[in-house]
Amino acid sequence: MKISISTEALQSLSTDWLAVGVSGKKPQQDPNVQKLDRAMGGALSACIKEESFEAKPGKTLSVQGRGRLKAKHIVLIGLGDGPLTEARARLFGVKAGRAAMSSSSLCVVAPSSEAGLLAAIADGIATGAYRYTRYLTGARIPKKQLGRASIVLAKKPDEAAKLAVQQGVVVADAVNFARDLVNCPANDLSATQLANHAVERSRELGITCKVWDKPAIQKLGMPLLLAVNRGSKEEPRFVHMTYKPKSATAETPKVVFVGKGLTFDSGGLCIKPSTSMVDMKIDMAGAAATIAIVTAAARLELPVEVHGIIASTDNMTGGDAYRPGDVFPSRDGKTVEIINTDAEGRLVLADALAYARELKPSYLIDHATLTGACTVALGAYRAGLFSNDAALSDAYKLAAEATGEAVWAMPLDEDLKDELKSSIADLKHTGSRLGGAITAALFLREFVGECRWAHLDIAGPAFLDKAHGAMPKGATGFGVLTGLSFLRSIAASAAS
Ligand code: BES
Ligand code: MN
Ligand code: ZN
Repeated sequence: MKISISTEALQSLSTDWLAVGVSGKKPQQDPNVQKLDRAMGGALSACIKEESFEAKPGKTLSVQGRGRLKAKHIVLIGLGDGPLTEARARLFGVKAGRAAMSSSSLCVVAPSSEAGLLAAIADGIATGAYRYTRYLTGARIPKKQLGRASIVLAKKPDEAAKLAVQQGVVVADAVNFARDLVNCPANDLSATQLANHAVERSRELGITCKVWDKPAIQKLGMPLLLAVNRGSKEEPRFVHMTYKPKSATAETPKVVFVGKGLTFDSGGLCIKPSTSMVDMKIDMAGAAATIAIVTAAARLELPVEVHGIIASTDNMTGGDAYRPGDVFPSRDGKTVEIINTDAEGRLVLADALAYARELKPSYLIDHATLTGACTVALGAYRAGLFSNDAALSDAYKLAAEATGEAVWAMPLDEDLKDELKSSIADLKHTGSRLGGAITAALFLREFVGECRWAHLDIAGPAFLDKAHGAMPKGATGFGVLTGLSFLRSIAASAAS
């Protein structure tokens, strides 16, 4: 998506869609609404009244221009009361992009010219217009897809405003890239193909990207990743992407992201019922978010060293599949007794986290569609945030809140630690059903050593049955916005 800035008057904008943000108790009294209403001979305020439109955040009202305006359609979008936040600016952009996704042109009247808000509006527009069309044919192929938009400002933009809009587009590209990977069905996205996407994206951006195939993974020492892979005909892949800023010094903070990259999770021998299996192509959403964060950090030239680590395989039921009761060593050295082969995510992550901690990161962050239990606890829209460091947890929560992504800090409850005691090995890898998201996180903690670590269980918000707020139906790209926002906050505090 290309987004430019315009300073034309509202009435004379020739466009398919004109999006206008509205705040306050009386939408009719909004100055932009009044301007357009005058040009339309009162038709706009009549519609507002008829539909009892209220300017609540994200509420929309679409009206035709009726030839009185150069715009074919107008969409009024509620901004809510109080100061415009980044999250509300983003939601505004998303609703504008969504309204216009099947047209050729969109003009969005910016409710603010502040750089941070312009960036959020821009990424909102470009993520709002997202659609996954790869497998549509014939009449199902959309005739039009929004490829460009402009943001309308009252006066000439300064350099900061122009840069902000372009940065918003970069962020949206990353989110949409993650969505494409997650929406892609498993028959077109094996671990090898996922790794190839990481390599391709990296090559374009001068990021180093190292990939280990199965023999190399054996040599590297990833017994738990290999255990999960045993039931599959597809080879596993381990990926390490590195973005080092040009200005890097010994003081430059280093953030390592780790992503669960299960290209399909059948459950293995502890096979899932078909209704739970149908969406399991999404089990690499953590990996997708990881690749997206690293590549966007590079494109934004953030002054932080950022690594992306992906452990990828599918979880299948082949003749050599790993079994309940099996015991495997791990990269860390601890032995693990397998209880339920459907708890495969924590196994591949255990080896990936052990590898990641060898990089001595300032912060270690993992994203994983790890447990159904987390969705039971928090619902579909909110991720569980677990951390062994209170300051990191607070910082990550703040970053998420700023973007509008919903997370909730969950406890690493020591009372549940006994659930992971095994009589035959160092650790059992699952506990009982109760507190399942917590025991999963406690298991991961065994492999992060002394690192400051945060774990995001994104099983709920990675993929939605229906659009919700700024998130679309299907893959959402959840975690990318927050990851980038966190990196920016790290960069800001390192600079001061
Ligand atoms: N990939 C699933 C978790 C999941 C569930 C992701 C729903 C997205 C939506 C994970 O590998 C899994 O199967 N977890 C089990 C763990 C259990 C066997 C301890 C679960 O949640 O049931
Ligand atoms: Mn599973
Ligand atoms: Zn899984």
